[in-house]
Amino acid sequence: MERSHRPRPGWGRQCLALLIVVIITAHAAHKSDVGSDVSTTLLNHSSMLIQRLQELLHFGNSTDTTLRIRTTSSDEVKVIQAHQLLLTLQSDIFEGLLANQSVVTLQEPPDCAILFEKFIRYFYCGEISIQLSQAISLHRLASKYHVPALQRGVTEYMKNHLASESSQGHVVSWYHYAVTMSDEILQESCLKFLAWNLSTVMSSSEWATVSDDLMVSLVQRSDLVLQSELELFSAVEEWIMKNSPNVSIIERVLRSMRYPMIPPHQLFQIQKQSTLLATYHSFIQDLLFQAFQFHSSSPLHFAKYFDVNCSMFIPRNYLSSSWGSQWIINNPARDDRSLSFQTQLGPSNHDSSKKITWNALFFPTLASR
Ligand SMILES: *[C@@H]1O[C@H](CO)[C@@H](O)[C@H](O)[C@H]1NC(C)=O
Ligand SMILES: *[C@@H]1O[C@H](CO)[C@@H](O)[C@H](O)[C@H]1NC(C)=O
Ligand SMILES: *[C@@H]1O[C@H](CO)[C@@H](O)[C@H](O)[C@H]1NC(C)=O
Ligand SMILES: *[C@@H]1O[C@H](CO)[C@@H](O)[C@H](O)[C@H]1NC(C)=O
Ligand SMILES: *[C@@H]1O[C@H](CO)[C@@H](O)[C@H](O)[C@H]1NC(C)=O
Ligand SMILES: *[C@@H]1O[C@H](CO)[C@@H](O)[C@H](O)[C@H]1NC(C)=O
Repeated sequence: MERSHRPRPGWGRQCLALLIVVIITAHAAHKSDVGSDVSTTLLNHSSMLIQRLQELLHFGNSTDTTLRIRTTSSDEVKVIQAHQLLLTLQSDIFEGLLANQSVVTLQEPPDCAILFEKFIRYFYCGEISIQLSQAISLHRLASKYHVPALQRGVTEYMKNHLASESSQGHVVSWYHYAVTMSDEILQESCLKFLAWNLSTVMSSSEWATVSDDLMVSLVQRSDLVLQSELELFSAVEEWIMKNSPNVSIIERVLRSMRYPMIPPHQLFQIQKQSTLLATYHSFIQDLLFQAFQFHSSSPLHFAKYFDVNCSMFIPRNYLSSSWGSQWIINNPARDDRSLSFQTQLGPSNHDSSKKITWNALFFPTLASR
């Protein structure tokens, strides 16, 4: 061990040689600095230049390129006069298109066609305003014409605006778009948002637009934040009724419900009343039976006979009062906060009369800060 730590004989000389080189370089750099003026003042007219460039686009002075934007499935054609230099500066697609022609016709879907002028203006001033409803269309344009900075900017915007208020929700459509674009980071952000805000998503009109794949991956997660398993079952039932997915999807989704987490009287009710189960009861008969068995014996006894190490017996993050208590903290600076609440001992109905008391303290307290 010791021997390998000892430096080899040649090292000292090599280091010295290196050191000398470094000193000489530093000295040379210093020398060239000495000759230049010490105080420089920056005249910054960049905003005026951008103003001028935008005027070029606005008035169409000395343009050399004509873009004809044809809206898909319509006769509408929008004509934009532009400058090849500015378009090709940021887009190799435009560079290719304009290499040997000055008039190009571009086919765009209506949502992109309507934003095209705004998109072209970005090439002249590097600035663009976005609304929630325009994000996908703008990202689509930036991707189609290879404008990487804009593409990144819109992705960033989407990630930061998942939680923004919108009338019918937008995250489901962003997720589906991220899948078509193979943007895994955006996909993951959307998925996390949907999972952690599921109650809100399930009650929005966007719920009906969830794709088969998204539904399958959502119902398998343990980190869903929602009122109760029954709420999920009802929402899934509504989704199946509206979308009529194929039988194998219905089976997968129904088998991903965690029936033991639903109290037996509610299980009994859905078994009797659900129109969906009237048709597909056979898919989950074994699971329902097992759930009733789970509720009728003590958890320890049950675990002796059944494998409980599977997702069906893992509670998700339920917000309803039998599972916990909501605690809204309006003033994090106050130091006297604690909360006491009771829940049932466990999800099994066998424990329904046994209560457990939780004492929650808010950290950091003033003392620990
Ligand atoms: C020049 O001014 C613009 C705003 O007018 C500013 O955004 C930019 O950072 C400035 N450039 C430098 C090098 O200070
Ligand atoms: C562009 O044209 C407009 C009107 O045709 C004119 O007022 C303006 O000065 C021109 N701008 C430049 C930069 O040439
Ligand atoms: C432009 O050149 C490419 C090959 O370089 C050719 O395929 C294309 O047809 C040309 N377009 C026109 C409009 O001449
Ligand atoms: C859930 O929604 C709230 C507000 O709508 C938001 O603040 C929060 O970040 C969302 N959760 C996730 C994981 O995005
Ligand atoms: C059901 O749909 C999925 C895609 O949504 C497909 O992969 C699968 O093959 C379909 N199964 C049947 C039985 O049609
Ligand atoms: C539960 O199952 C997982 C794999 O599914 C395994 O890694 C883990 O060891 C199991 N835990 C127990 C306590 O058996």
